[in-house]
Amino acid sequence: MLNVEEIRRDFPILGQKVYGLPLVYLDSGATAQKPRCVTDIICRLHNELNANVHRGVHYLSEQTTDLYEQARETVRRFIGAEHPEEIIFTSGATAAINTVAYAWGEKYIGEGDNVIISEMEHHSNLVPWQQIALRRGAEVRVLPFDDDGRPEMEKLPSLLDGRTRIVAVTQASNTLGTRPDLRTVIDAAHAAGAKVMVDGCQGVVHGGVNVAELGCDFYAFSGHKIFAPTGIGVLYGRRELLEAMPPFLFGGDMVDTVSFGRTTFAPLPLKFEAGTANFIGAIALGEALRYVERFPAAETAAYEAELTRYATEELQRVDGLRIYGTQADKSPIISFNVEGVHHYDLGMILDKTGIAVRTGQHCAEPVMTHYGVSGMCRASFAIYNTEREIDALVKGVVRAVRMLK
Ligand code: ALA
Repeated sequence: MLNVEEIRRDFPILGQKVYGLPLVYLDSGATAQKPRCVTDIICRLHNELNANVHRGVHYLSEQTTDLYEQARETVRRFIGAEHPEEIIFTSGATAAINTVAYAWGEKYIGEGDNVIISEMEHHSNLVPWQQIALRRGAEVRVLPFDDDGRPEMEKLPSLLDGRTRIVAVTQASNTLGTRPDLRTVIDAAHAAGAKVMVDGCQGVVHGGVNVAELGCDFYAFSGHKIFAPTGIGVLYGRRELLEAMPPFLFGGDMVDTVSFGRTTFAPLPLKFEAGTANFIGAIALGEALRYVERFPAAETAAYEAELTRYATEELQRVDGLRIYGTQADKSPIISFNVEGVHHYDLGMILDKTGIAVRTGQHCAEPVMTHYGVSGMCRASFAIYNTEREIDALVKGVVRAVRMLK
């Protein structure tokens, strides 16, 4: 079994007190905390190895270039891609999805076409598709979910047709925790001739992925939700798709030859990595993924599932509390409201007792609209959380509700 107390010692921030009380950090869905190996490598790179990648023959530049390309290989292995050039470093999942929406969408989505977005997408995998559809005169179709937070998969065939260009779907909802059945989505989309963009922001850190086995066309995730720093993310695309796409951002590093009359572009992956790469972020992401790999995936999954089960059971005891998203094997995310209590008030009182949860719309306004609420409280867990912290949350909610009602 995982030694969670030992894991917690890897994350210096978790030992902190806020307002004189032990920090109970239950907002890893928004951003995960960083283990010391990640913060150490960031310092070491700045202090000992800083030099721009792909640009120098000098020692430091060669070292960082090697480490940057090793990080690409680590990401490739971690997500099960076939080729390193299918891994594009971006500033985050949002930039990755926008790259596909612009570079692929401008070329392949036209008037009269349609794109399908699941109703539970967070804004990063919704707005870029909506905007490209608007620009290209395409229709947006929505795959709805039911009140339990399950995608109504039986409706997918009637949404798909020969003009569907892409289906955008999350691996795990950041609000409901639901893990849609990607196999069904991908098989149905491909049978209709459509591509599939999977948003792995919440999924990659809870259960991982094997993109080659899954057969998705594009996959995106942000580093900061998987223990890496902010400002680094990954776009995976099948090689032939990326090769056929024009570049999206233009500048240094993504070119082959440049004259005033004409520019030719670098091959993959650099074609999509214009400008100085966030090489320190990418190398730190590689370190974060190696950190995740230290723990057997099955043990991590079992531990997080047990935390989620326990938290669900305990929270459900609170009078008037409703949990949104009830899939049995959901991601370790619990969004909830208590009847007669505003989510902000609840979050603020919890904060004063050292408990950090997310409040508001969770960058997923259509999910709030579905349930007719202005927002929710959300507790999201990571490998370092404990049942003791869940007890603190439940106690904090009970106390806050007593104060607010
Ligand atoms: N999308 C992020 C979240 O779920 C920011 O909190």
